[in-house]
Amino acid sequence: MRVLITGGAGFIGHNTAIYLKKHDYEVIAFDNFRRATDYAIKRLDTHGVPIVKGSILDAKALKETLKGVDVVVHAAAYISVEESIKKPALYFRNNVAGTANVAHACLHEDVKLLVYISSAAVYGNPVTLPISEDHPTTPISPYGLTKLVGEQITKFYGGQGLKYIILRLFNVYGPGQSGAYAGVINRFIMRLSEGKPPIIYGDGTQTRDFIHVYDVAKAIKLSIEGGVKNEVFNIATGKPTAIRDLAENIIRLAGLDLKPLFKRPRMGDIKHSYADISKAEKLLGFKPKISLIEGLGDLLNLKA
Ligand SMILES: NC(=O)c1ccc[n+]([C@@H]2O[C@H](COP(=O)([O-])OP(=O)(O)OC[C@H]3O[C@@H](n4cnc5c(N)ncnc54)[C@H](O)[C@@H]3O)[C@@H](O)[C@H]2O)c1
Repeated sequence: MRVLITGGAGFIGHNTAIYLKKHDYEVIAFDNFRRATDYAIKRLDTHGVPIVKGSILDAKALKETLKGVDVVVHAAAYISVEESIKKPALYFRNNVAGTANVAHACLHEDVKLLVYISSAAVYGNPVTLPISEDHPTTPISPYGLTKLVGEQITKFYGGQGLKYIILRLFNVYGPGQSGAYAGVINRFIMRLSEGKPPIIYGDGTQTRDFIHVYDVAKAIKLSIEGGVKNEVFNIATGKPTAIRDLAENIIRLAGLDLKPLFKRPRMGDIKHSYADISKAEKLLGFKPKISLIEGLGDLLNLKA
C-alpha cells in the first residue's frame, strides 16, 4: 500500500513515515521544508523514505504526487499557538487553504483514505473532563480554529465521497521535535541542557495529556488498517499529568539538582486538559503503550 505523508519531514510526519515503512508500507514524505529539521531529513534518508519537496499550497504539485497513492496522512501545518496569534493570516493560508487543496486532490485522484491530523486545540477551554469527541469545539487560538476548519473541510469532502479519519492529537512528544515550536517537554529539556531550571507558567497544577509519538504512529496505522471510516478520534493516553510533576520528573531523570522556576500564568493557557480515549480504544483497538516516565527516559538518553 502506498502512503503519502504531508508534513512528512516534520516531527510527527517523519516518525510516522519510518514506523509505516518498518511495517512494509511504501511511504512518500511530502514537505516544503519550511519547518522540517535536518534530524528528520537524515532519519528519512537512513530509512530509505523518499521525500518530495513541495507545498500543499501548490495544487498542481499535489495532484501529480498523489497519482497512485492509496492513503494520505495529512500532517502538514504550522503549529504554534503563539505565532498564530501574531500572524493569523499566515496560519489561515497555510493550514486552511492547504487542507482544502489536500482534500480536493484526494477526492479527484481517487485516494482511498485521508487521515487528517487534527488537534485537541479544536476544543478550546474544556467544559467537561475528560474531553470526549462530542465535547463542544470552541478554539481559543487562530491555530485551533485552522485545525477545526480543516476538519470541516475534510468532512465536506467526505460528503462528496472521500473516505476519511480525523485524529485529534493531544500533547505529542518524542524524538525529533523541533526546537522553535516545540511543546513543553522539549522546552524543559532544552533548558536543562543549558544547565537552567525549567520555567513553569502558573503554579504548575495545570494538567496535560502527553502521548508518545510512537503511540501516535501506531494510531495512524490502526486508522489505515481498521476499516472504520468517517469518524473522529481523540488520540492521547487519557491520563492527566500536572506540569509541576512533569518538570520534577524530568529533573530527576536527568540526575540534576534544580528547582523549577515559576512565572506568572500566560494569557489563554488552558487549566486542565485530558482526553477520553474510549472511542479509539473500542473502534480502532488503540492502546497507548509508552508510559511518560519511559518516554522521558528515552528522550533524555537520546539528548545526552
Ligand atoms: N506536536 C504536537 O503536539 C501536535 C499536537 C496536536 C496536533 N498536531 C498536529 O500534527 C501535525 C504535525 O505536527 P508536528 O508537531 O509534526 O509539526 P512540525 O512543525 O514538526 O511538522 C509539520 C511539517 O509540515 C511542513 N509544512 C508546513 N506547511 C507546509 C506546506 N504548506 N506544504 C508542505 N509542508 C508543510 C513543515 O515543513 C514541517 O516539516 C500538525 O498538523 C499539527 O497540527 C501536533
